[in-house]
Amino acid sequence: MEMIERYTRAARWFHWLIAIVFFEMALSGLLIFLPWVPSGTIGMWTRLIHRIGAVFLVGAPAIFMLFAWQRSWDFIKEAFTWGKEDLEWLRAAPGYYFGGDPRMMPPQGYINTGMKLYRISIILGGGVFLITGFIMTFLRGIVPPAVFQWCLVLHDVTFIVAIGMFLLHFQLGVFHPRMDESLLSMFDGKVSGVYAKSHHGKWYDGVNNRDDDNSSE
Ligand code: HEM
Repeated sequence: MEMIERYTRAARWFHWLIAIVFFEMALSGLLIFLPWVPSGTIGMWTRLIHRIGAVFLVGAPAIFMLFAWQRSWDFIKEAFTWGKEDLEWLRAAPGYYFGGDPRMMPPQGYINTGMKLYRISIILGGGVFLITGFIMTFLRGIVPPAVFQWCLVLHDVTFIVAIGMFLLHFQLGVFHPRMDESLLSMFDGKVSGVYAKSHHGKWYDGVNNRDDDNSSE
């Protein structure tokens, strides 16, 4: 069976590292909301663990970018490159994901429009987390109280959006019957040609043309 590489080893390790840190931060962040946690020793440790997570969540992408800046740039560029097919995808997606005819979906590139939206939420949400988290950790008492309060609100609202997007990502990747090769591809890096063609038709054609060019050289 024809198999195509979708995620490199580095991308897969990076993905699972981010997933683990995301959980750690989500859990420690939620703990801070429990009435008996914020003060005292437990509160101190919870905050410390949350901040250590933040160091990884900022540091890991920063190191990745340093070593793979072209791929990192492509990651951003692809997310913000939209065309007519993306609007068609948005229109057809509800029907498709609830079992409608797959032929109604326009052919997609390496990532589909839903993944573009997920990337955008990661990039923008990550930026808000970074700025508000930085202010709350390092500039407490220096910035006016109103600024601190706004950071808190923004941080929490962004978390609500992030967790919503994550649950959608999780459900699609793990449970959705139409994404049956998705989860495995995040472990072994590959998808079948049939899957690539049906889910990412434009990307599949690109990979095939590249292979044809190479074999004719
Ligand atoms: C247990 C948690 C998670 C699971 C089970 C999971 C599952 C997956 C799967 C199956 C894919 C492959 C999608 C495909 O190509 O069909 C994927 C891709 C991806 N995931 Fe996750 N994921 C998890 C957590 C996260 C988190 C926390 C983030 C970021 C905050 C994230 C960001 C991404 C990104 C950026 C991609 C690549 C799609 C792209 O290139 O835009 N994932 N994930």
